[in-house]
Amino acid sequence: MPPRPTTPPPDGRPPRLTAWDAVVAAAATAAAAYVPLSVLPGFVDPAESVAVEWGLTLVFGVDAALQVRRALRAPAGRRPWPTVAADVVAALPGFLAGVPGLLRLAKLARVAAGMRTVGRHHVGAVSRLRLVWFGYWLAVTVHLVACGFLGLGGVPPDADADRYLDALYWSTTTLTTVGYGDLLPQTPLQKLYAIGVMLLGVGLYAFLVGNIASLISNLDPLRVAHLEQRERLDAFARYRSLPLPLRRRIQAYHDHLWERRLVADEDALLAGLPPALRDDVALHLRRDLVEGVPLFEGASDAFLREVALQMRSFVALPGDVVVRAGGPGREMFVIARGAVEVLDAEGRPIRQLHAGDFFGEVALVQDGPRTATVRALAASDLYVLDRDMYDRVAEAYPDVAAALAEAARQRSGTGRPTRPA
Ligand code: CMP
Repeated sequence: MPPRPTTPPPDGRPPRLTAWDAVVAAAATAAAAYVPLSVLPGFVDPAESVAVEWGLTLVFGVDAALQVRRALRAPAGRRPWPTVAADVVAALPGFLAGVPGLLRLAKLARVAAGMRTVGRHHVGAVSRLRLVWFGYWLAVTVHLVACGFLGLGGVPPDADADRYLDALYWSTTTLTTVGYGDLLPQTPLQKLYAIGVMLLGVGLYAFLVGNIASLISNLDPLRVAHLEQRERLDAFARYRSLPLPLRRRIQAYHDHLWERRLVADEDALLAGLPPALRDDVALHLRRDLVEGVPLFEGASDAFLREVALQMRSFVALPGDVVVRAGGPGREMFVIARGAVEVLDAEGRPIRQLHAGDFFGEVALVQDGPRTATVRALAASDLYVLDRDMYDRVAEAYPDVAAALAEAARQRSGTGRPTRPA
């Protein structure tokens, strides 16, 4: 069975948890539960205790041998002797039973190391994992503190099961700083112990208050980012006394982003990726859309790829004017989702356009002003092709340029000469 591979494997990836690690972690947990009780008189059957002791000695002994071998193979200066020493101590056999048997608890260090390894391999689930780890260590601590209280005679004689339950109850109320006070330490030693546990409880409580809220909110970081951004903009709008309709539009924009889970700005996210990965993600996100545009039907693969990579995303809300008649034309748009309406210069509706349609090409092709106004009918996700991109398309792909010019000619109906491609 392979030992704990804390040194990275040759491919440079962080070490993975093996089945053997899981066995050792389970044995260490069992030891943490069992050994403190076996040290206390009357809680565990001595014959059973001997069997468990030998079982733990076997597992921990094999593991300690594996750890020593691994340490010897590691390069000098990178040999983890302190942890190996803890592994060897935890493996000492059953003749140490009694208080020195508590040395077995050193093996919990392996559980902690295993948790770190799991965390490194599941970065996306780290918040959930932290909650689980916290629950684990809390349970172990409550149990150990209860056993300590029993060891100091803090619970009056009774049936053993009831005594353990009482001790667990005392440990929980003290650690959580609830402290009902119905089970009181009597001797000076018990009182000192109680003081220590209370201080530990304060630390634990501070950790809980400080971390649980952020751990839980981190379970859905996109939602947190969305709410923070919405609140920031709302505060800004109130501070600058923006009129209510404008404030409503800002909120509507954010709610649309949230509903579509577009909270993260697609372009900004893509910009943060290395070029090759960015291209692949952009292609994946936009390729279907580009291929679905009738205008680009039959265009070469290279063309579709280039367009998909160059497009910027853009959101228009119902009522937003995307293009205004008579205004300058610097870009054209492809509708990914939603609907827009085309209005003539007098504001009369001419046509509605939907997903897969494009608009804004006339001003680019004819190098003139916008021939119509385009207004969003529904919240719409648009992709933008700017003039530079259009020029490159026109130069490199004459078929597409000709189709765009034809569409522009039909739509504008002006017969104005088109720009040379
Ligand atoms: P452009 O003139 O740049 O900006 C307004 C856009 O509205 C225009 O490009 C076309 O894309 C679009 N448009 C204008 N008239 C029509 C029409 N009759 N049918 C469809 N789209 C149109």
